Amino acid sequence: MIIFCIIVLVLPVSMPMSLGGWVQSPGHPHGYDPDVKHEEKHCAQSGHKVKLTLTHLDLEESHNCENDRLEIWADGELLFTLCGHKSMSELQTFINPKLYSNPGGCLKISFFTDYSNPTRHVGYRGFYTINDVNECEELENKCTQRCNNYIGGYRCFCRPGYLLDPDQHTCRVSCGETRRGSQEGALMSPDWPGSYPENSICSYILSTEEDLQYELTFTEFDVQMTEDGRCSDSLTIKTLSGISGPYCGHKRPPSPFTTRSHHIEIIFRSDDDGANKGFRLSYKTKEKKCFASVIKNSQLIPNLPEYSRGDKITVHCAEGHVLNLLDSVKHEYESTCRSNGKWSHVIPCEIIDCGYPPLPELTELRDEKDLRTTFKEQISLKCSSKYYQMTGNGNFICDSDGYWVSETGQKLSEALRICEPVCGMNTEILVGGNVFGGKPATLGEIPWQLLHRQSPRGGAALISDYWALTAAHVVDGFEDTSMTWLGGMVNAKNKQNTEMQTEKIIIHPSYKKVGKNEEPQSFDNDIALIKMSARVPLGPNIRPVCLPNTPISEGESGTVSGFGAFKRIEISQLLRHGDVKIYPLNECDSLNFPVTDNMICAGNDGVDSCRGDSGGPFFYPRLQQKSADEPYRLLGLVSWGPSECGDKRFKGFYTKVFNYLDWIKETMEKN
Ligand code: ARG
Repeated sequence: MIIFCIIVLVLPVSMPMSLGGWVQSPGHPHGYDPDVKHEEKHCAQSGHKVKLTLTHLDLEESHNCENDRLEIWADGELLFTLCGHKSMSELQTFINPKLYSNPGGCLKISFFTDYSNPTRHVGYRGFYTINDVNECEELENKCTQRCNNYIGGYRCFCRPGYLLDPDQHTCRVSCGETRRGSQEGALMSPDWPGSYPENSICSYILSTEEDLQYELTFTEFDVQMTEDGRCSDSLTIKTLSGISGPYCGHKRPPSPFTTRSHHIEIIFRSDDDGANKGFRLSYKTKEKKCFASVIKNSQLIPNLPEYSRGDKITVHCAEGHVLNLLDSVKHEYESTCRSNGKWSHVIPCEIIDCGYPPLPELTELRDEKDLRTTFKEQISLKCSSKYYQMTGNGNFICDSDGYWVSETGQKLSEALRICEPVCGMNTEILVGGNVFGGKPATLGEIPWQLLHRQSPRGGAALISDYWALTAAHVVDGFEDTSMTWLGGMVNAKNKQNTEMQTEKIIIHPSYKKVGKNEEPQSFDNDIALIKMSARVPLGPNIRPVCLPNTPISEGESGTVSGFGAFKRIEISQLLRHGDVKIYPLNECDSLNFPVTDNMICAGNDGVDSCRGDSGGPFFYPRLQQKSADEPYRLLGLVSWGPSECGDKRFKGFYTKVFNYLDWIKETMEKN
């Protein structure tokens, strides 16, 4: 008991505590038994800690206290594992100061002994106390001003003039005031002209009649700013239309400050340090004004920086903007400035939206992902097939009338041809060779070659994805929709081809018709246009040839092709081609037929067009002789010649397509 009294005196006197009780090993002080397992646990209520003071420790000594040991745990954490002998002063110096629990926590004492006790040891003894925690000394619950600890808890309190915040720790200055109906006056920060208190939040409210607005003039301004320009203390002005600020340091509010509001709140805040003076402002009221900025995307007539009550204006929507009215499209309206500073009418001018572009056939958007469709936005089209090319640059802009228009002013919705077939290109394979005496063509080599397989057998040349040119005598006597043409093949028997039905057959008006399968008197103007009933599906094996751009000069050679007679075989199943040279017309034997300038004569030793080739293409350059980017152009159409095809003394005659360019263009446009 004497020892206990001494120890109690050693403990800090300031700590209110109550004795909890004694702890000791079983059998103390006579010595403990082998195989003991003894545990006890002591807990504190909230705001208190359990503290243990060991007065005796005498256990068997062993490496790592393997044999006998005393463990002390605080809230699940092992504080010490003890064994051997420790003197009172060792315990007091090294062990006891650390033997306490968390606030509201527990201490657990576990004592274990093994099977043998070579010599007698007394064991341990000590006592525990339940101590109040002095929260005021712990940093995590800092009171900004004063702290009062009591048994089981603590409380913050404030100096006179401050109020404790709902957080129960911060002392704030509650300041500010509300002035209703005040038209003139001054406001200043707390303690002005002294420095303002820390941790203050002041709210000054000014409110007057609706037709008036406050104008503030800051006469003094000294509000703390950090070195990096942040407002550690700040002044903020809340008006009906928004918030201005925060202001501090050099960032002082503009003066005079026109608030446009009859109701304002000035909020002044300070943090927990600093000694600045604050602010002083005077205020007065003025009549409210109306502002142009309220009506966006428009021009106001007359155009003034501000308007007084009763002023009338006309609001014109800016280019590319319209009024959003359900029943009509309008671009302007009238409005009057009201005494409360608001316009009598505010109808938003909304930006025109052209909507998703009306994409013509065969076109697609270059970039669908970022499609924006409002006024002045641009879209870019491309052809959806590689057998087509753009006729323009494909760019369209959303105009102020809500249409997508090209740079030349063409409306997308009315654009007829954005993508045109690529002409004169083939798939060339360097085999085959030199119709009559000619060699077979490979698939895709003469993709514009068409065949009329029924009588009369004849050819045609595809010149667009709808139109083909042929000889008038081939189609003479046929009804518009009565012919079937084949394309995309090199073997007439092959079922894998493209079948085209005619929609219109237009024979040149100057050609003298004689009827189906009749021999004409003259082959002058032996040319006809055929329009197919559906778009020809262009692909590698079926593509148009280009029209000529110059009259071809004599002496040049071109290629003629067709499924016509070949050597002694009357009808060739294979598409054949041969190269023929152009001669001056007067050098060609006319066989008593009239020869006109609408004809080309051409031939080559043993190579000629023949029966069944009529209407087919005679093109330039010669097959397999063109350079990469230059297209094949249609020079002529197989028309007539000697019945002995390939006879050295004679040449074949072809319709000179160059002479008919205007007629072709006009007819295609009109039909
Ligand atoms: N008129 C023939 C036809 O209908 C073409 C004859 C071409 N003859 C010639 N020897 N080039 O197929």
